[in-house]
Amino acid sequence: MPKDTLTVTDNRTGKTYELPIENGTIRGMDLRQIKVDDDDFGLMSYDPAFGNTASTKSNITFIDGEKGILRYRGYPIEQLAERSSFLETAYLIINGELPNRSQLEMFTHNITYHTMLHENVRKFHDRFRYDAHPMGILISTVAALSTFYPEAKNIFDKESRRTQMYRLIAKMPTIAAWCFRHRRGLPVVQPDNDLSYSGNFMSMLFRMAESRYTPNPTIERALDVLFILHADHEQNCSANAMRSVGSSQADPYSALAAAAAALYGPLHGGANESAIRMLNQIGHVKHVPDFVKSVKAGEGRLMGFGHRVYKNYDPRAKVIKKLAYEVFDVVGKNPLIDIALELERIALQDDYFIQRKLYPNVDFYSGIIYQAMGLPMDVFPVLFAIGRTAGWLAQWEEMLEDDEQRIARPRQVYLGADKRDYIAISDRS
Ligand code: CMC
Repeated sequence: MPKDTLTVTDNRTGKTYELPIENGTIRGMDLRQIKVDDDDFGLMSYDPAFGNTASTKSNITFIDGEKGILRYRGYPIEQLAERSSFLETAYLIINGELPNRSQLEMFTHNITYHTMLHENVRKFHDRFRYDAHPMGILISTVAALSTFYPEAKNIFDKESRRTQMYRLIAKMPTIAAWCFRHRRGLPVVQPDNDLSYSGNFMSMLFRMAESRYTPNPTIERALDVLFILHADHEQNCSANAMRSVGSSQADPYSALAAAAAALYGPLHGGANESAIRMLNQIGHVKHVPDFVKSVKAGEGRLMGFGHRVYKNYDPRAKVIKKLAYEVFDVVGKNPLIDIALELERIALQDDYFIQRKLYPNVDFYSGIIYQAMGLPMDVFPVLFAIGRTAGWLAQWEEMLEDDEQRIARPRQVYLGADKRDYIAISDRS
């Protein structure tokens, strides 16, 4: 009779243990009973970089990396990209269900109502160096917001939590646009709450002397779709940072600043910037074979390729590749697309990439669109952060409401020096 258990025999002692299997996992703590003797601490599992460890149960995002499937709350990413808006998707990710019309109107109103930033934020933005990386400004500004909203510490008060969520989703585009304007030496543009979420973002980025900015509808929609595609991705590095910092009961601004810092790195959200730098460095389609050779020789990575979970084409990359041509129809083609397509063609036929199941990920084509829209490379990770804010907040709230979660605190395997006595500096060799 099959049973949902795992029988383990400890060959050190000959003892046998039966461990329950639930949802395809055994509980790490069940290993602790496996001991050589009473003084033994008990068995642990060693899993650097969480390669095979589920840190939580979650109802938010489903990924099947082998099949290239991504769903938010059960809805396929392709359908959301085709038919939803970013704010509707953010509502879905946070609340678990698609909103009805009045729920969406209320949610949109609440977000729109919070788009402005305190005047002091503008003042301290002025103090950043003229060439400060926008991600550095974004991370510091999000952390600084905790000083403007001290009531955010009431993390177990659901109503206060909701207010901070509205504020964060609302203010991220304003912060991001101000980072961009700072870099350009341009005055900040205040939010225009008559525009859509993405239309207002474009206005804050691009408005010059005109009294009112009218966003191009194709670009406005493309930005919205990009935010949808980036909105969540289950337990990635930055979601894990959000949960980990949030588990100490820090306020959501501090936790989200940590998540944004995790996103900044070139192996995570910074990869879209690195991918464009790489395409620029390749320079021409004819140099692609030599570049692929250098990657295979270990002289660097193909940025925007590979993923810890996807061992197939990232479904977000498919949507973005198609979206790129819609944007090019409006703003003209970004010539880097030809190098990217050739790189993809050659890599997908090459044994090195086939054996390791390396396919384009979300960051391979997104930078090409952003660049075509007139955005500089160092703003790309900031755009990623705008969309991902919805996911970070949903992950954070799910963690807070999960009775099984406590402060995140991994164990270690200590391999350092055994006890030794202090030696006076004069006696050291
Ligand atoms: N180019 C060349 N080789 C690669 C690449 C790449 N982009 N990615 C992985 N490999 C090789 C790697 O060298 C290793 O080979 P070997 O077994 O011979 O040592 C093998 O594939 C497995 O790589 P890994 O580093 O163990 O895989 P990982 O799961 O730890 O890393 C990753 C995942 C995304 C960090 C990695 O694929 C990578 O560095 N990609 C480039 C950066 C990138 O595009 N990041 C964006 C990820 S998607 C957006 C997001 O969620 O942030």
